[in-house]
Amino acid sequence: MKEQIANIKKNSIKEIENCIEEKQLNELRVKYLGKKGELTAVLRGLGNLTAEERPLIGSLVNEVRDELEELIMKKGREFKKQELKKKLENESIDVTEPSKKIKLGSVHPITQTINEVEEIFLGMGYQIADGPEVEKAIYNFDKLNTPPDHPARDLQDTFYVTEDLVLRSQTSPVQARVMENQKPPIKIICPGAVYRSDSIDATHSPVFHQVEGLVVDKNIAMTDLKGTLEMFAKKCLGEKTKIRFRPHHFPFTEPSAEVDVSCFVCDGKGCRVCKGEGWIELLGCGMVHPNVLSNCGIDPEVYSGFAFGFGVERIAMAKFGIEDMRLLFENDIRFLKQF
Ligand code: DAH
Repeated sequence: MKEQIANIKKNSIKEIENCIEEKQLNELRVKYLGKKGELTAVLRGLGNLTAEERPLIGSLVNEVRDELEELIMKKGREFKKQELKKKLENESIDVTEPSKKIKLGSVHPITQTINEVEEIFLGMGYQIADGPEVEKAIYNFDKLNTPPDHPARDLQDTFYVTEDLVLRSQTSPVQARVMENQKPPIKIICPGAVYRSDSIDATHSPVFHQVEGLVVDKNIAMTDLKGTLEMFAKKCLGEKTKIRFRPHHFPFTEPSAEVDVSCFVCDGKGCRVCKGEGWIELLGCGMVHPNVLSNCGIDPEVYSGFAFGFGVERIAMAKFGIEDMRLLFENDIRFLKQF
């Protein structure tokens, strides 16, 4: 029996040493030390031995078992080490390899233009106001002295959500909201999206952006409006820019005017941008109608004010030389990253 044990020991040591992978090692563990393993079988045979032999053989088996267990563990640790090494080699990071470029976005030309306009007016002491894009018809029209039979209120021009709720067709309702909530002096601009039931072409879009301006205080006169707009035009479009006023009609201002700027591409000589006119239409403006002031709780006998409103797309297109408004809304990255 001693011989048998010695044989098992010899063979198993050889096999463990020659073993090359973890799976094989596990098989050897089962083969020699498992419940049905060779050493266990020897232990089972102890019953046939004499009382003296039994403890001797028993402890011999245990010795061999300990030795094999130790060997298998050692081998197992070696495999683990090798595996880790291989893994580290495979996963090694080449810090000199060029990285994948993260594509940085750019500020949309409309946002750029709004930012610039805001800077100019903040510099003149204005505050920036905000209002809802889904607006009560009463703010979009009635309070602004725009009667129910006014063509702007037609379904063909304005998107109605319900009979008295519209997608605001202009930023002017913010005027009314501010006047209702704030005592003069008031000096605000309000940039934002507006909606009109227009079909899309190179110069029209059902959604576009406006900037509204409103100043209300004692003794505000048309000259203040002129000076303000002249300053704005020069800062926004270049120091050489001239402005001209043309009489016009808006329900919420009296008198009202449209303002043109001298073409900043050709300095007024006439070119493609100004379509040979030398002037580009910029905005609508006027002195706030007394009805609008009183509709919003401000006494027109004490206070007066001016207001103006212009389209952001028109300025962005002129400044950046963009000829088709659709490009501003398609949001093709190849187009946008040029600005
Ligand atoms: N709301 C006008 C429009 O959408 C623009 C405008 C004209 C705004 C005159 C004003 C203004 O505040 O005084 O066409």
